Amino acid sequence: MALRELLRAADVRGARRLHNVADARRAARRRLPSVVYDYVDGAADDELALWRNEAAFGSVTFRPKMGSGCVSASIASRVLGADVAVPVILAPCGLVRLLHRDGAAGVARAAASRGTVSVLSTVAGSSIEEVTSQTGARVWFQLYASGGIREAEMLCRRASECGVEVLVVTVDIPALGNRERDVRHGVTPPLRVDSHNAVALGVQVFTKPRWAAELAATGLRLARPSARSSGPGDSALQGRASPFSWDDIARLRAVWAGALVVKGVLSGEDGARAVDAGADAIVVSNHGGRQLDNAPATLHALPDVGAEVGGKVDVLVDGGIRRGAHVVAALALGARAVMIGRPYLYGLAAAGEPGVERVVDILASELRRCMVLLGCPSIEDLGPQWLEGLDAPVPGARRAWPSAPHGSTA
Ligand code: GLV
Repeated sequence: MALRELLRAADVRGARRLHNVADARRAARRRLPSVVYDYVDGAADDELALWRNEAAFGSVTFRPKMGSGCVSASIASRVLGADVAVPVILAPCGLVRLLHRDGAAGVARAAASRGTVSVLSTVAGSSIEEVTSQTGARVWFQLYASGGIREAEMLCRRASECGVEVLVVTVDIPALGNRERDVRHGVTPPLRVDSHNAVALGVQVFTKPRWAAELAATGLRLARPSARSSGPGDSALQGRASPFSWDDIARLRAVWAGALVVKGVLSGEDGARAVDAGADAIVVSNHGGRQLDNAPATLHALPDVGAEVGGKVDVLVDGGIRRGAHVVAALALGARAVMIGRPYLYGLAAAGEPGVERVVDILASELRRCMVLLGCPSIEDLGPQWLEGLDAPVPGARRAWPSAPHGSTA
């Protein structure tokens, strides 16, 4: 059997050992050098926004209806007018290529095989041309443009030439968040490696020889992340921000023929601004807690945004979703679908493309089971009537999910 097939078979076996997202997180931690694991797992400052996202889901109380006769539940939905088999979209994430040789192409294929879609980040480490030509999968493209609106327009043209129909513009990164785990590893956030830290990082990397060998075989060199540039968008990896004003969004609206999604909204007011600027959908997001710390939990921000723009555009939410029950809570509070980031990155790091598929399968099966236990036959029927309420998370309490496997996130 060729080496590639052996590695794939090992990933398929590894994926079968994952029974929930926390398993995938533990496996990712075992497989990755800590500098890479912490880039994925970490957040800004005191990581309160990350904790709040997760804790908000822990504070949900359901209101089940017994005796409904519901023994199966339909979880198919439509987002931006297109069918999805499961209302879970794979969020744009940076440096996906560092996690596993399958990289962003593997993520796109995994999403497509599960009837959903992934969003390729400008800074994923693979270009839009590579991912679309290698996979033929429907992908959305997420735009960063530290080089300003001209660079943004050029990236839009490239995405459009690759057949991308949905553009996701992230508006919460006028400056880069203070990712202290990265700083402690001696890398300029996010993960810029230079002559001052190369030795320390080299030691870490060689404690994970399998990870290093697999990546080296794909031609990736950690010490020179821009050496295989995916285009001008790579400049966002150099620690620079991607500031977009509402005027910029309106300008992009004018050049982008497809659907436009604005990601990073946390209030009804900003939701309305995004819609005025031409957004077709909004993602309620605090960037997984990686930007402004002390930001509101996204589940708590969702109803306000939904009340303002929910009747006009699709509202999605990300941040802290680790269980199918969390998807139920988000949909009950008005989201059309959720985005997940860390959960599928853990799956990718743990077991490549099969690991990503496994994470989506786990969430889909938990989602179905939760709905049956609630007595709700279809996600079309989800609404606030299925919730008793949300208790505010207690500041300073431990992160609700999962019981932290290592000190720095507790
Ligand atoms: C990129 O979007 C990051 O949060 O690192």
